Amino acid sequence: MTRVDRLFVHVHELVTLADGSPTGARRGAAMRQLGVVDDGAIAVRDGRIVATGPTDEITREYRAAEELDLSGFVVLPGFVDAHTHPVFARTREHEFHMRCAGADYMAIAQAGGGILSSMRAVRETTLDELTATTLSNLQGFPAHGTTTIEAKTGYGLSLLDEEKSLRALAAAMAESPLTVKRTFLGAHEFPPEYRQDREAYVRLLCEQMLPQLAPLAEYCDVFAEPGVFDRAQSERILTAAKASGLRLRVHADEISPMGGAELAVALGADSADHLGRISDEGIRQLAASQTTGVLLPGTIFFLGKDTYAPARRMIEAGCAVAIATDFNPGSCYTQSMTLIMTIACVRMKMTAEEVITAATINPAFSLQQDHEVGTLHAGKRADFVALDIPSWRAVGYAFGGNPVALTVKNGIPIVANVAEQNPDVFGGGPAVA
Ligand code: NIG
Ligand code: FE
Repeated sequence: MTRVDRLFVHVHELVTLADGSPTGARRGAAMRQLGVVDDGAIAVRDGRIVATGPTDEITREYRAAEELDLSGFVVLPGFVDAHTHPVFARTREHEFHMRCAGADYMAIAQAGGGILSSMRAVRETTLDELTATTLSNLQGFPAHGTTTIEAKTGYGLSLLDEEKSLRALAAAMAESPLTVKRTFLGAHEFPPEYRQDREAYVRLLCEQMLPQLAPLAEYCDVFAEPGVFDRAQSERILTAAKASGLRLRVHADEISPMGGAELAVALGADSADHLGRISDEGIRQLAASQTTGVLLPGTIFFLGKDTYAPARRMIEAGCAVAIATDFNPGSCYTQSMTLIMTIACVRMKMTAEEVITAATINPAFSLQQDHEVGTLHAGKRADFVALDIPSWRAVGYAFGGNPVALTVKNGIPIVANVAEQNPDVFGGGPAVA
């Protein structure tokens, strides 16, 4: 008999993903190997998974002072959202309704709305205020079952305002239970003071912002898009970022094709994101690389477009495919990975098994967190989510509500959405810790 801190028992279906390798991206048919334990249990000590297995086996071997009964729930590894923009000061609902009335996303941006409108709001905001809105944005993620995120700046667009954004993010992270990986996105748009001299902004990014701000982030990202940062500018910025010690992610081939995926692969980026317009050659190169394709179907849905990334062709070609929310005030205002899973099934024809893999181990790999999270292998962090759905096969199918019953981070329940309905199981604890 071994003592542990906590036991989670009688999980209706425990999806461990532990049939496959604990680390590395899963490609092709390996995206469909879930490793499901019926009436499963998880033993947790010091925030890490000690063992998973059938409840009768686990309770024979392990004892804990605290035992939580998860009967009726499906447990998955905590979601890893590898593409978010939570450092903003104000929402932009008016633009959403303008688009619904027929306006185009890029046209709104060119008229001073879009990213520049968020830039003005961030520039007008103090560090303390920006920290508070960022923290409140972060809080929406665990409420929807997410335990690890990547978080980008990119609404400051000056040395001072990008520094303020990175400091706000660091301060918000310190108050949040989430694991957060930080991305500097000073190359999100050209700010108004450099629109007539774009070369000068690229130089500012490469020569001052990146060297000075690199210690405050793990990654650098560029919005590589015709009309924003072109291929040559994107390459210069990403190369300077690497020289400053940052790893790379790229907004690639989102709206118009630009060889963004090929650029991401050539520079050894950890991810190429969006990819609605990825070329056949881009798919081929991505499949032969360690760069994860992070698909953001919520954005295409929310913008009312039809250019979803060709997920089926990418999976069949052997690309490492992940899905993410792209949570931001303009093009996708949701923190719900389960909603993104539904859109990925309906519009990109991914299977339930594939969207589960694409929301857990593959994005964890893209953030170098696959040794820590993304599957429920023994030794990893005890980060998982209990969903109130009939079976793992209902992933994607159940939509429009929040199916998250419990989010567990480092072995500790941090969100208990059903506390009131089921006080015996959850001790009537706080809705969000
Ligand atoms: O990923 N494409 C650029 N960046 C965001 C949108 C940001 C915004 O509209 O505020 C995106 O969709
Ligand atoms: Fe984005």
